[in-house]
Formats: sequence, C-alpha cells, structure tokens
Amino acid sequence: MPTLLHIDSSADLAHSRSRGLTAAFADAWRARGPEYTVVRRDLHTDPLPHLETSALHWAAADRTDAEVVPADAEQLRQAVIDELLAADAVVVGAPLYNYTLPSTLKAWIDRIHVPGVLAPAVEGGAQPLAGRPVVTVVTRGGTYDVGTPTETWDHGSPVLDIVLGSALGMRVYPVIASATLADRLPGLAPLADRARAEYADARTTLERLAATLD
Ligand SMILES: Cc1cc2nc3c(=O)[nH]c(=O)nc-3n(C[C@H](O)[C@H](O)[C@H](O)COP(=O)(O)O)c2cc1C
Repeated sequence: MPTLLHIDSSADLAHSRSRGLTAAFADAWRARGPEYTVVRRDLHTDPLPHLETSALHWAAADRTDAEVVPADAEQLRQAVIDELLAADAVVVGAPLYNYTLPSTLKAWIDRIHVPGVLAPAVEGGAQPLAGRPVVTVVTRGGTYDVGTPTETWDHGSPVLDIVLGSALGMRVYPVIASATLADRLPGLAPLADRARAEYADARTTLERLAATLD
C-alpha cells in the first residue's frame, strides 16, 4: 500500500503557503487511487519535544556507559523513525524562519538523523531509506537569488538537502516558493506577480510529482 508521510511545520494555520502546497501534494497522491494512503504529522499542532539527551543522537550500541536514555524518549524516537521507515514517499513543509528551519521541524530532524540507524555511522554504512523520495516544500518571505546579497542566507534548504539527501540517502525533490511576504510588506509589493507565479509553478510541480512518483 503506497503510503505518503505528510509533514507540516508552519505556525500559520490560516494562510500558510507551505501547508497549501503540501496539501495539494497529498490530495494528488490520494487521487491516484484508494490504495494511496496518507499519514499526517503536524509538527506545529503536535510538536515533538527537544531532545531529552544528546545520547539520542546515537544508536544504542554506540552510546557510552554513562549515556542513559529515558525509556519514553527512546520509544518516541523509535516511533518517529518507524513512521518514516514505513513511508513510501514523504512531503515536508518547511517555511523559512529566521533564515533556517522552524524549530519544530528541527526537533523532528534531531530525532531521525541517527548515525547507525538511518544514517551511516561509518564510511559505507547502511542507509535504509536510500532512494526513497522526499519532497521538500520551502516557502520564503523574501528572495535569495543567485548574484544578490542574500544569495547564501537560506540556511533551511541546505539542512534538508544534507540530512535527508546526503546523510539518509533519500531522493530529494526540492520545491521552493519565494517572495511570499509580497502581500504583507509594502517594500516587497513589487514582487507580488513573481510570488503568485512561483506559488502556481510550485503547485503544478507538486501535483505532477505526486501523480508520478514511484
Ligand atoms: C517566525 C518567522 C520568521 C521568519 N523569518 C523569515 C526569514 O528569515 N526569511 C524570509 O525570507 N522569510 C521569513 N519569514 C517569512 C516566511 O518565510 C514566509 O511568510 C513563509 O511564507 C512562511 O511559510 P508559510 O506561508 O507556509 O507559513 C518568517 C516568518 C515567521 C513567522
């Protein structure tokens, strides 16, 4: 049964662009047939706690004798990892907050990026999620165009690419919609047409991906 894990992290429950885009992806996924199911994880309405201890970054076998993990923290990490392992595809809504990921999404990353479990602990180590598709939907209020002073200021997208793509070996499909604050900030108003076009392009790309991803 092809299962999509649908993750959101926007703190905006009314007008979120990333929520709109991930929902469009999930709808197109469901439209493929009744066997295409969706598991939901809303990291804003149901946030994960910050790591109880740094020992959670490591597989149990790689912890020192002094590193003790409370049983409920261990169970929570396992549940989040099992949920990801059970997904045939993942879509992640990732708004840019203060030039990086929302802390709620970072808390999820902290639970799933575990060397020796989902990422290689040694050169050539196992990547159980290798090749699994993950669609990252990054929404940004401003613009970060090549050749502009803010070109390198988006520190959210690279984290998703490095952790999900390089460390976990997943097949990352990045989709970005920028200039979303054009309708709120007078200084960005001249970007309104571009913002609308980027959102429409992102939606078209996501619907096509959801209809065709294996
Ligand atoms: C707490 C917070 C911090 C933000 N920081 C940035 C930022 O650093 N750069 C930026 O381009 N936009 C920033 N924005 C604007 C959001 O990236 C933009 O509104 C985006 O569309 C949010 O995603 P959403 O529409 O899915 O909620 C910020 C918004 C919030 C609420």
